[in-house]
Amino acid sequence: MSADAVIWHDLECGCYRADLPDWHALAQRYPGVVLDIGAGTGRVALSLAHSDHRVIALERDAELAAELVRRAAGLPVEVICADACRFTLVSPVSLAIVPMQTIHLLADRPAFLDAALRALAPGGVLAVALLGEGVEPFELELEPDAVELGAVRYESAPTALRRRDGAVLLERRRSRIVNGSSKSALNLIRLAECDRATLSAEAVSAGFKPLSHRVIAPTADHAGSEIVCLEVPA
Ligand SMILES: C[S@@+](CC[C@H](N)C(=O)[O-])C[C@H]1O[C@@H](n2cnc3c(N)ncnc32)[C@H](O)[C@@H]1O
Repeated sequence: MSADAVIWHDLECGCYRADLPDWHALAQRYPGVVLDIGAGTGRVALSLAHSDHRVIALERDAELAAELVRRAAGLPVEVICADACRFTLVSPVSLAIVPMQTIHLLADRPAFLDAALRALAPGGVLAVALLGEGVEPFELELEPDAVELGAVRYESAPTALRRRDGAVLLERRRSRIVNGSSKSALNLIRLAECDRATLSAEAVSAGFKPLSHRVIAPTADHAGSEIVCLEVPA
């Protein structure tokens, strides 16, 4: 039986697909090992590994990292349980990716950019997904995403999105329902505001060179995003 952290993570993040072609295109373009930052249970890392890309998956949450080790059995994935703001790799990689707005969760972006720069070979690229179109404030309980595992039904319903004090605050009601009896709690995620100009300026200070960006349109269930590519000068 999976840990609750794994179940909520899969329910809330696991079904997103719109960005996968972009990560695959980048992995093709920069051959070598891909470092997936904030890999979760491996939505992107496993997809790349199934296409024969070698992946280092870095994840801070020990339960998510352990589940990713289990799911990656037999695939070219090395899992490192560490904080993205203070990690080092034994050998540099050619591509580091930060999917699904993980960058907005990091407590110390400058420290992360320093660590990423050290982890990349000269000419390597850091590709970061930023929140894009469709992040509009609301106060309304939306239809839940749900999954049934054995006798337990898990539901996660967005209840509010607020933009305040330099952050996007996403509130969800998480319910665990057994035999018709429901226990609910509100879960709050804080995403620090960061746009392309801000990230690019910070990245230049760290030693990167802005390279390009690409836009991923919103879907019915997910906001859009923008992937910003930053190069380590050769
Ligand atoms: C929105 S999820 C994205 C998961 C996965 N990359 C995906 O695209 O489905 C963000 C992930 O980043 C991880 N994370 C947050 N802060 C982190 C940090 N400082 N270091 C490493 N991982 C972190 C979270 O535990 C979570 O698994």
